[in-house]
Amino acid sequence: MKNSEIFFGKDILSLDQFDKRSIEKVFATAAKIKKTSTKKLLRTLTGKVAGLLFFEPSTRTFSSNSAGFKRLGGQTVEHQNPNVTSSTVKGETIEDTVRMMEQYCDLLVIRHPIKGTLEIAANASSVPVINAGDGIGEHPTQALLDMFTIWEKFKTLTNLKGLMVGDMLNGRTVHSLIRGLSMYPNNTIYLLSPKQLKLSREEFDLYTKRGINLIEIDSIDQIPSDCHFWYWTRVQKERFADKKEYERLKLSFILTKKLVSKKAGKDTLLMHPLPRVGEIETAVDSDPRAVYLTTEARNGMYVRMALFSLILKS
Ligand code: NCD
Repeated sequence: MKNSEIFFGKDILSLDQFDKRSIEKVFATAAKIKKTSTKKLLRTLTGKVAGLLFFEPSTRTFSSNSAGFKRLGGQTVEHQNPNVTSSTVKGETIEDTVRMMEQYCDLLVIRHPIKGTLEIAANASSVPVINAGDGIGEHPTQALLDMFTIWEKFKTLTNLKGLMVGDMLNGRTVHSLIRGLSMYPNNTIYLLSPKQLKLSREEFDLYTKRGINLIEIDSIDQIPSDCHFWYWTRVQKERFADKKEYERLKLSFILTKKLVSKKAGKDTLLMHPLPRVGEIETAVDSDPRAVYLTTEARNGMYVRMALFSLILKS
């Protein structure tokens, strides 16, 4: 998608496919959809069918894809747990499953536990494939909705100071979001995680070479006080071979009301891709700066609706 905002017929596999122009196009489309009544939008994808194949659990990504496609007038074929509901259980390969789904659908949205599977699926598919999370790889549509949420608030994606907390090693939303923010000049992100869950050195070097300023910190005291956003994340239990290690690390850093009043700025967005499993105190939910249960989650639907219409309408 480099140098163009042409999305028609394209797969969405990584944030690396995007440039500033294509991101602007997604945001402009999402902002327009957000303002338009569903009744008016309903004709956009009439007659189109999306296939949703989620080989890993999901609340928001699955539901916002499904609801978004339907709000545009389309319909969906849904496998929430293909390991049980599809012929995967009989040993069907991902390539064959995709080849079947493309006979019935105009677009596929796939989540899979193994990094790299989305490329395999996209190569096998003649219809566009959207990556809804591939293991510890990427989650591009989550990053786009997170960037959209930041952009709506600050009207820019440059000169930002952000904080990311939790599982930098395994968190695919983090990987895509850093990729996205590294496209814009003068962004600094503070990374706070247990030392076992730091970004891999390979990824750290890749992102910093692109110009983003990544600063690793190891305690809550080092959080700077004037961040545009805090992006808390869950320690990714399912990626641990040693469950005791997970138990030890899972609540290393907790977002509390006290911390918010001590360190957050008056406009700091409090974000989290969700689900949260103890790392945000529920007392924070009612803070006007907390967007994880509201704007951020809802924007996911608008951004996905924008991608659907850009990909399926010439
Ligand atoms: C994230 C995911 O699946 O990567 N959730 C989401 O899609 N909003 C984050 C997570 O599971 O921790």
